Amino acid sequence: MPPLPRSALELACRMPKAELHVHIEGTLEPDLAFTLARRNGLQLPFADEAALQAAKNFTDLQSFLDLYYACADVLRTEQDFADLMEAYLARAHADGVVHAEIFFDPQTHTARGVPMASVMAGLTAGQRAGARRFGVKTRLILCFLRHLSEDDAFATLRETEPYLANIDGFGLDSAERDHPPHKFVRVFERVRSLGKPVVAHAGEEGPAAYITEALDLLGAVRIDHGVRAVEDPALMARLARDRVALTVCPLSNVRLRVFPELAQHTLPALIAAGIPVTINSDDPAYFGGYMNDNIRALQAAFHWDREIWARLGHNSIEASWADPADKVRWHAEIDALL
Ligand code: ADE
Ligand code: ZN
Repeated sequence: MPPLPRSALELACRMPKAELHVHIEGTLEPDLAFTLARRNGLQLPFADEAALQAAKNFTDLQSFLDLYYACADVLRTEQDFADLMEAYLARAHADGVVHAEIFFDPQTHTARGVPMASVMAGLTAGQRAGARRFGVKTRLILCFLRHLSEDDAFATLRETEPYLANIDGFGLDSAERDHPPHKFVRVFERVRSLGKPVVAHAGEEGPAAYITEALDLLGAVRIDHGVRAVEDPALMARLARDRVALTVCPLSNVRLRVFPELAQHTLPALIAAGIPVTINSDDPAYFGGYMNDNIRALQAAFHWDREIWARLGHNSIEASWADPADKVRWHAEIDALL
């Protein structure tokens, strides 16, 4: 038996945990971006990796999305998507992530002429490789881009029909301001009629009212970000009572200037209210790190004890769509580290 963790931070880094909010396109590290550009005979609009890294000085969500969509252009082939997925799962595994629910944005790719078949075959091959090499369990969540139209989302949903067995849920991401959840009510009605669970980005840059809309109008079972819930006390009480998980992404929120510093983050208030929050990396290649980088930054800001960290680990397992037997085992493994 390995020795028990000597600190709360060591517990948090070592404990088995689920990552429930990570965009596979946001895991594209500069070295892989340049490798894929060369492999596909493309030119990135940056001289080298350092120049790309220097461009990651964001002022808001849109300034990030502009770079994120530009870099995604190097993803062309099934192999590219497989390599991207496998690289992420290697990193996640190194941080104690035993289960990952991974977003992908097919409209970013199909709009450039990349077939849905290549995206799906590559991502699922990467998932299989990650399970085989690292033992990480995965789910795939298709996100609709909310800055595009309802018609575009419906067309994408129709295109996914042959691949539904490999799509575990559906989400909503991209530019939140002026693109409220209600724009996609009918799309998510259809998603639910297919028997698939719904999640949605809400309350990141948008108001708390978008969180309520995502729950009431889209039937979301989890909220991605949700950090502006603190603006609505009744909503806070509802999230706690109904155990609606928030997939919070601390480094992302600071890099996109949702909060000026981690010390001003609403996470302590969300935890104190009894809301089942989870810690996630969002777009780790762009925001300064993966799961345990987020954990180290939080611990430097808040100095949480073992009880809080264990609770955050348990929350991630509880809120996941993992198999029940896996959940029982991981909950026990967290407790065995206490
Ligand atoms: N797509 C990738 N990362 C995102 C984020 N943080 N918010 C909205 N859309 C995204
Ligand atoms: Zn996100």
